[in-house]
Amino acid sequence: MKQVLSLENVSFSYQEQKVLEGVTFSINSGEFVGVFGPNGGGKTTLLKLIMGFLKPDYGTIEVFGSAPQYSQSRIAYVPQGLRFDRLFPISVKELVLSGRLSHLPWYGKFHSKDLDAADEMLEKVGLSNIKSHAFGTLSGGQAQRALIARALVTQPELLLLDEPTASVDSQAEREIYSILEELKGEIAILMVTHHLRTAIDQVDRVLCVRNNVISMQPEEVCEHFAIGLYHPPLAGG
Ligand SMILES: Nc1ncnc2c1ncn2[C@@H]1O[C@H](COP(=O)(O)OP(=O)(O)O)[C@@H](O)[C@H]1O
Ligand SMILES: [Mg+2]
Repeated sequence: MKQVLSLENVSFSYQEQKVLEGVTFSINSGEFVGVFGPNGGGKTTLLKLIMGFLKPDYGTIEVFGSAPQYSQSRIAYVPQGLRFDRLFPISVKELVLSGRLSHLPWYGKFHSKDLDAADEMLEKVGLSNIKSHAFGTLSGGQAQRALIARALVTQPELLLLDEPTASVDSQAEREIYSILEELKGEIAILMVTHHLRTAIDQVDRVLCVRNNVISMQPEEVCEHFAIGLYHPPLAGG
């Protein structure tokens, strides 16, 4: 199977604080991987390293066989807790289209294939009927789906999502999962989530991030351990 991502003995610190140490794992094409761990364990930092926004102190990261900065056009990212101003003057479709800004030609007008790609993604995430609405009027779940469409419109081969269901209701959570279920097998997905119980049935593999990274099969993640991860002795101070 083709390897999408590999980390070899990666360590990273912010100033004096060591966040990740000796991290080694790899991800194959089409894998859907859930990333869990206590707050402050280094999950978001791990995603930023994979995107090349941060550089490891030690070790190597390869994305599609190159250093992360050379693979950025093949990665899409839905950041954690992204909040737009309620009055942000952009329609849902324009938000999705903004994912293709890097495809804009010099004369600065979107091509019909960009518009079609945006429409296709709006359809995929179930927002076609409200594509001309102002983005600021969407519910939390709808906004998150619009942001996923914006990420997908670049046709990424690796999709990184940082707690996409953190602030949405359970109906919206199911809708987000069903979008990801459809993508499953087509592209590699790395999703940070606290909702282990909901995600465990869907993911192919689980990475537990707490300073280092442990890879597990979903069946190995027994509830006891899952809950234990968030207990004070393991969650740390
Ligand atoms: N830009 C930063 N500068 C300094 N410390 C940071 C920065 N970002 C995160 N940290 C610290 O690094 C640790 C890991 O953070 P993070 O990767 O956001 O964890 P998680 O996403 O698992 O909650 C935390 O202790 C956090 O306070
Ligand atoms: Mg985080």
